[in-house]
Amino acid sequence: METKKKSSHIPERYALRLRFLAGLLLAMLFFTGCSTDDDEPSNSQQYSKISAHSEESQDSSSAIVAESESKAIVTPAASSADWNLVLVNRENQRAEEIVMELYLTESGYQIDSRIQEPYLQLMEAGKAAGMDFTMVSGYRSIEQQQTNYDVNYQNYLASGLSEEEARTKTEEYIALPNASEHITGLAVDITSTALANQEGNSGLFPDLENYPEGLWLKENAPKFGFVLRYPKEKEAITGINFEPWHFRYVGIENAMYMTENNLTLEEYIAILKQNEALGNNNQ
Ligand code: DAL
Ligand code: ZN
Repeated sequence: METKKKSSHIPERYALRLRFLAGLLLAMLFFTGCSTDDDEPSNSQQYSKISAHSEESQDSSSAIVAESESKAIVTPAASSADWNLVLVNRENQRAEEIVMELYLTESGYQIDSRIQEPYLQLMEAGKAAGMDFTMVSGYRSIEQQQTNYDVNYQNYLASGLSEEEARTKTEEYIALPNASEHITGLAVDITSTALANQEGNSGLFPDLENYPEGLWLKENAPKFGFVLRYPKEKEAITGINFEPWHFRYVGIENAMYMTENNLTLEEYIAILKQNEALGNNNQ
């Protein structure tokens, strides 16, 4: 302010200094403006930025989905039409059985033969880490899923629930016959042998998340291409209650990305489709 008052009497050397300072200020403003470009990193930077974002935010997935509404975001090289990303749920039911080559696991359950290797590697790595797993389910035909559904429904009816209550309770954990991803052969139910023995021959209890096997699977399954398909606090999106035993093969890169960004398959497919609609096939 003092400078302004005296401006009409500024000696030449002060005027030069002022002009220099003004130039410096302009330059600073210019570079500050440029630095906002960091918010729109190049494609190669974007993936890691999204991953970092997930650590900062409680709900990174909604931030990513919101971002994807306006512009394509970088994901692993994948298409919503890839065989390992097939989405089967209440809104995406399969009218007919899916034909595939099946592999029979040691436990007597079948899976799509394309996931034989990753499944065996997952089991082997868990065993090496001291885990004791029991596989409880793999591929199921639509007909088997129908039986599964009916048995649960009838049990609830027998326990005294009304038809509507029985249907609601059944569908908390059991998908409609044409809406179960077990019919894809890409889903496996794995539990702790201790839990399976303790609770009869099922072992499918939410408490699995506190057992070493549940903790290990949650942390390590993505490294082998499997995601925890029905996470906590995503029930409104998946339509299914938290299932710490149900893992779905999607491929390693997809699984790592989905896990780091807290994305369900529904959300991930939505992003891929959004990218595809914007003309970015990201392949
Ligand atoms: N328990 C899963 C949701 C199924 O029935 O497919
Ligand atoms: Zn399952």
